Amino acid sequence: VSSTDGKRPDQMVMAAFVSASTTKTSLGAWMHPSTDLGFLTADYYISLAKTLEKGGFDLMFFDDRLAMPAAYQNSIAGAVERGARAVKLDLIAILGLLAGHTSRIGLGATYSTTYSQPYHVARKFATLDHLSNGRAVWNVVTSLNVDEAENFGVDYTEHGDRYDFADQFLEVCTGLWESWQQDALELDRESGVFADPDKVRPLNYKGSRYSSKGPLTVPRPPQGWPMLLQAGQSPRGRDFGARWADMMFVSSNGIEAARKQYADQQERFVAAGRPRHAARLLPSVQVIVGETEELARAKEAYYDSFIDSEEELIYVSEQASFDFSTVPLDEPLDDELLDKVGGTRGLVEKYFGQTRAMFGEQATLRDLGVARARRANIRFVGSATQVADEMEEWFTTEACDGFVLQATDVPGSYEDMARLLMPELRRRGLVSDGSGSGTCAIASVLPGA
Ligand SMILES: Cc1cc2nc3c(=O)[nH]c(=O)nc-3n(C[C@H](O)[C@H](O)[C@H](O)COP(=O)(O)O)c2cc1C
Repeated sequence: VSSTDGKRPDQMVMAAFVSASTTKTSLGAWMHPSTDLGFLTADYYISLAKTLEKGGFDLMFFDDRLAMPAAYQNSIAGAVERGARAVKLDLIAILGLLAGHTSRIGLGATYSTTYSQPYHVARKFATLDHLSNGRAVWNVVTSLNVDEAENFGVDYTEHGDRYDFADQFLEVCTGLWESWQQDALELDRESGVFADPDKVRPLNYKGSRYSSKGPLTVPRPPQGWPMLLQAGQSPRGRDFGARWADMMFVSSNGIEAARKQYADQQERFVAAGRPRHAARLLPSVQVIVGETEELARAKEAYYDSFIDSEEELIYVSEQASFDFSTVPLDEPLDDELLDKVGGTRGLVEKYFGQTRAMFGEQATLRDLGVARARRANIRFVGSATQVADEMEEWFTTEACDGFVLQATDVPGSYEDMARLLMPELRRRGLVSDGSGSGTCAIASVLPGA
């Protein structure tokens, strides 16, 4: 595609950010009395998927990690005891299940390019795309932490290399998806031709990291390629997204920062030879919506009563591959620490900034835990009208193309969004009314749909 003036879609994408576990964001969420603790059962996922689909969400997205957090106190004990990302079920099994119980919602799973083989992943998502009739979405991650490398018995791959390898990974996957032409299958009993051999070609890809002969043993997926999602925040990650993504997740501090990131990403699409608005950009936000603002604020206060600063530091240590238990909890944050966290400096700097903005210059590590719980994700709290006003402002002023929505308690928080917020957004014409073309809800709100 050479044009640089891709059309900006006129409706938002609404994606639910879920986990094959208890919710990821709310550290005490599994203790919240209304949380359904059935995360080891099929019914839990089926029921949640149906709630989201009926509520008009475009995508049910599952995050993933391939290790328990173990950096804090150099131990998994804290994560296990508190339920801090200690459980992550395999996602393809869950999405295969959900494909049979839903008909429209996009089904998104995170898969790492650093700890899988491209043939394997191409095959999984092609299969899911068939079984879901074109609703497979792959969140392409390169994986952040050392614990994951240790689970696979391999050396940790440095940041820039991970993305270079990921480029090769996707060259293989997309090549394999295209190894069958769309009309290759004939299934002609009279002639005895199952598929046309001229339309199924080997790939013969040879890269420095990955090679694959092909073709794939799965015919061309209904979407051509399963939809590609990416969440890189570093310049290299954002260029990678610019080259490959249909949708990108964004992590930002507020609307101003989001607008800047949005404009920056459009330039990156063009530099990658794609039009502006080539992919939808979705900041992650946490929504707490109530019948009135007062009720929403009460829910927020109750939810925040579960915050445990140390538990947050288990996550921060995991993200930064640095043991924050070695830092005094109640002394002012020291910028020298930033030099020690190496490659994740940007992330930790962001947390320092958020914490100081909330607690002042004398803010401590304990405060950082609280700030992260409350602000690491942008939060919209209020009545449906208030939350819709905020979303509308973000969307219409080019801060985003939709949102990836984090819940508090599950499923209650998504039920609230479905019951209160989505009808208000539909009334304003900001989200699809479900009558879009195609079988995949998310496809109908993508550029060019
Ligand atoms: C909303 C959102 C969801 C993410 N989900 C995952 C995930 O499930 N698994 C994972 O390993 N990384 C996840 N990430 C991390 C990104 O893939 C990426 O590594 C991170 O944002 C840092 O960017 P960089 O890789 O360009 O340095 C997520 C990031 C965001 C903003």
